[in-house]
Amino acid sequence: MATMVGTESTLEGLLEDLIQLDYDAADAYQAAINRLENASWRTTLANFKEDHLRHTRELGDTLSGMGRTPPTGSDLKAVLTQGKVVIAGLAGDDAILEAMRTNEADTNTAYERAVQHPMAASALRETLEHGLDDERRHCDWILKQLGRN
Ligand SMILES: [Fe+2]
Ligand SMILES: [Fe+2]
Repeated sequence: MATMVGTESTLEGLLEDLIQLDYDAADAYQAAINRLENASWRTTLANFKEDHLRHTRELGDTLSGMGRTPPTGSDLKAVLTQGKVVIAGLAGDDAILEAMRTNEADTNTAYERAVQHPMAASALRETLEHGLDDERRHCDWILKQLGRN
């Protein structure tokens, strides 16, 4: 199921959902890191996890500036279809990376929508565009490892 994140009408709702999505992605990356045998893949995925956590901080700062308390974790709200519980049950490096590819398809879609949000001021739009660049880089790297580009 494709994510609905990015379709929110209010900026606050959009930012809250994006932050949840980024926490969910970071948790899924950690679950993947725990399962992967390939040490070089583990190192790269640790960097991607940090990118997602940085996104939660950047977007959280914006949300705080709007008077809202940002989410502090993914909690029980599983935003991604291949969340940490699914990833933790997978065996084989390719299967794990394939699951993360599915997750990154969702983060890419969410950020592609978010950069178009009519209420986003230029500073936030710039943050979202940098975020989208990160998400595209994550997806490209995974596809390359899986021999798809
Ligand atoms: Fe992100
Ligand atoms: Fe990502």
